[in-house]
Order: sequence, then C-alpha cells, then structure tokens
Amino acid sequence: MPSILVAYATTEGQTEKVARRVETTLRERGHDVTLVTLGGGTPPDPADFDGVVVAGSIHAGRHQPVVETFVRDHVDALNARPTGFLSVSLSAAEEATQAEAEGYVDAFLEETGWKPRVTLPVAGALRYTEYGFLKRTLVKHVVGKRSGDTDTSRNYEYTDWGAVEAFAADLAAAIEPAPTTR
Ligand SMILES: Cc1cc2nc3c(=O)[nH]c(=O)nc-3n(C[C@H](O)[C@H](O)[C@H](O)COP(=O)(O)O)c2cc1C
Repeated sequence: MPSILVAYATTEGQTEKVARRVETTLRERGHDVTLVTLGGGTPPDPADFDGVVVAGSIHAGRHQPVVETFVRDHVDALNARPTGFLSVSLSAAEEATQAEAEGYVDAFLEETGWKPRVTLPVAGALRYTEYGFLKRTLVKHVVGKRSGDTDTSRNYEYTDWGAVEAFAADLAAAIEPAPTTR
C-alpha cells in the first residue's frame, strides 16, 4: 500500500480542513496516509514516503515560514518522488485575483527549488467571528477595498472542495502503480 505524507501549516484552521479532505480522499483510494502539522516538533522525513503533499496558507503575501523551512530542508527528497503543493489564499477565490494566487505558488517554488508534480492555489475562508478585534478590523478593511465580503458577524468559506479532491486524485494517480496489460 503506497504511503503518503500530508504536512500542513494553518493559522486560522482552513488549511487544516483542506489537508483533512486530502487525507480522506487518499485513504478512500487505499493509501496509507500520515497527516502532520508543521511547527509542532520534528516532522517525518519525506524520504520515508512514496508521495508527499505540503499545504500552507497566505498571510500578508507569504506562506507560513514553517512551510518554507520544511520544503527547503527536504527539497532533494521532495524532488525525488511524486509531490503536491496546496496554497490556500483569499486571492484564489476571485477570477480577478487568480494571477496573484498563482504568483504566491510560483514565488514559493522559485525560492525553494521544489518541483512538485501537482500544484493547486485554492480559495480559503474568512473566519471573522474567530478573529480578535485587530485582525477582524484589518481583514475587513483589506477585503472591503477589493469589494469582498465584509459582514463580520459571520464567516465565509470559498474553498472549491471538488478541486481539492481532484488534486488529491491527480497525486494518487502519479503514485499508484500503472495497471499491467497482458
Ligand atoms: C491577517 C490575514 C492576512 C491575510 N493576507 C492574505 C494575503 O496577503 N493574500 C491572500 O490572498 N489572502 C490573505 N489572507 C486570507 C487567508 O489566506 C485565508 O483566510 C486562508 O483561508 C487562511 O488559511 P488558514 O485558516 O489555514 O490559516 C489573509 C488572512 C488574514 C486573516
């Protein structure tokens, strides 16, 4: 049974939800999945897995530093097996800011030298009710300037779950042995 590491960092929880959906999709295909949060002790070594998914989210234009550190530390092992990168952001939610979301992915791969088999800039969420006063005020201001959702009495989820499942299936297909023909 192929083994897959899903390593993620989350600041407000949406990337964790995305990583769990990837985990479920891969398990349903029969894979042995290890799900870990980056930043909580020494992560598993990607060299011990048949495939790896890394997921992080964007705040002030950058992925979490722990995501960058993990990829830099293991870039050779990552480039030697099928891997996938999920980048969760608000920019991915709108057509008008898609290029920005793709730019976050391109910049990250350029800076780290990682060449994942599959990448997905995916829309995240606005969890206004869970932010403290300062974060809520800042996010409302920034989102309002882009004509986005600013009702801070509720939360908004923009994630395309079908795209997340398709991403997981694409990576799984790259890891699974090709069917033998007679
Ligand atoms: C303080 C703050 C700053 C953010 N900055 C950006 C940004 O620069 N670009 C962007 O596309 N999304 C930005 N976002 C949106 C997050 O990427 C989005 O909320 C995502 O779902 C967060 O994922 P997480 O819950 O896993 O941390 C920001 C969100 C917050 C709360």
